[in-house]
Amino acid sequence: MEKKKSGGDFRYAVGEAKVPWHAVGEFYRANDVLEVVKFLLPPGENEAVWQEKINTVAAALQDLGANANVATKLTLGKKVAEAEELCKEYFKSPYACLLTNWTAGMEIAYKMVGLKAGDEVIMPAVTFIATMAYPLSIGAKIVFADVDPETINLDPADVARKITPKTKMIVPVHLGGYPVDMEPLMELAKKHGIYVMEDAAHGMGGMYKGQRLGAIGDFGGFSLHEVKNITSFGEGGLLLTKHDKAGSQLAGARFLGLDFTRKIKDWLYDISPLETLNGDIAVAGNHSACELNAVGLLLQMQRLDAIIAQRRKAAEYMNAVLSEEPGILVEKADTADTYGTHHLYLLRIDPEVCNGDIQELSQRLKDKGLTNITHFGPMYRFRIMKELGYDEEAIAATCPVTEKMFYKSYTHLPLYPLTREQLEYQAKAVVEAVREMKNK
Ligand SMILES: Cc1ncc(COP(=O)(O)O)c(C=O)c1O
Repeated sequence: MEKKKSGGDFRYAVGEAKVPWHAVGEFYRANDVLEVVKFLLPPGENEAVWQEKINTVAAALQDLGANANVATKLTLGKKVAEAEELCKEYFKSPYACLLTNWTAGMEIAYKMVGLKAGDEVIMPAVTFIATMAYPLSIGAKIVFADVDPETINLDPADVARKITPKTKMIVPVHLGGYPVDMEPLMELAKKHGIYVMEDAAHGMGGMYKGQRLGAIGDFGGFSLHEVKNITSFGEGGLLLTKHDKAGSQLAGARFLGLDFTRKIKDWLYDISPLETLNGDIAVAGNHSACELNAVGLLLQMQRLDAIIAQRRKAAEYMNAVLSEEPGILVEKADTADTYGTHHLYLLRIDPEVCNGDIQELSQRLKDKGLTNITHFGPMYRFRIMKELGYDEEAIAATCPVTEKMFYKSYTHLPLYPLTREQLEYQAKAVVEAVREMKNK
């Protein structure tokens, strides 16, 4: 039977036809699905048993394939819409847009506020390169704010010092999933007419003063990359906004500005530029999400709250064990106002009490077989910044806490999905390593 593609996208056959237009590639078949199953569930310890089970699945899939239709809409279809509806509800956000990744989400938000060369964006000195990639690419200036020594999150007091008439956006990053103190930032932004975008790559499902992280600022969003709390089959991003003008343009912002509700003469669609919040125009890129990304997200959204609860328990266990050892500074517990996602465990030490700094501890932890990642460091140290004309040392002088904490005091440890034994080993190893440092 002829399988028909459907949907509002010009690349699919429109209407009934004797000879349909298969402008899109090959469909997937039952045997291909078997390969996906094998990929997602590779052999365990006993390969012979796995092979036996796979043979059963292969037979069942063949049978299913003979009695099933074939999925003929693989991108921007019903599943993407369903995932977006679920996210709107979960985050209490009027708009949600599923994308290829969160870097794309931030690019769209930066475009929507009309960010241009010479504008300034304030962000924490410690984050991932993705936060500043788009502003750097268009010649906007990154202004690095110092961090709070307890959470390594953006320090609102330093943001206040660094606002200038050129500041267009403030980008708090909920590092490791601990909520940034948003209230003073939102007040500053309001006072100065600046937009706020929350980089909540690590903060999906967390809360601050009763609001979901990512849904507090003008824009916000999440990475669904496989190392995050939940994923949409390896890559993905979700952008939220509360602005009608931006939200109503997200479909175009995601897909090159194509507008199927309007046509130009003798053509199927029109292309509109994005109209930014300040009335300028911007050109959209292509960041379309696949239906399978949406299926993955829908599945894992169901587990998000339970995953966070499990991570929280693991963090509480780490805190309980580590707080017994002088010199180890445990992770800040949630307050009545915050509900963190515990994406990473923030381990800090007092180098004087421990008789050694985090570099030494980090090596000792590696020697004991622990993974620890000083992955989030001072962004102004990257070579790209020097080559773009940023003065590394001058910026470092304005970020003393970042300097001190990064080089001397913090690293990140994993929490999930560690087994109880792994978690216990990890906590014990940290205490042992600190004691070794003290006794050396
Ligand atoms: C703090 C932070 N911001 C942004 C991103 C970018 O997300 P994505 O990989 O989905 O583009 C990441 C991803 O690791 C991140 O850790």
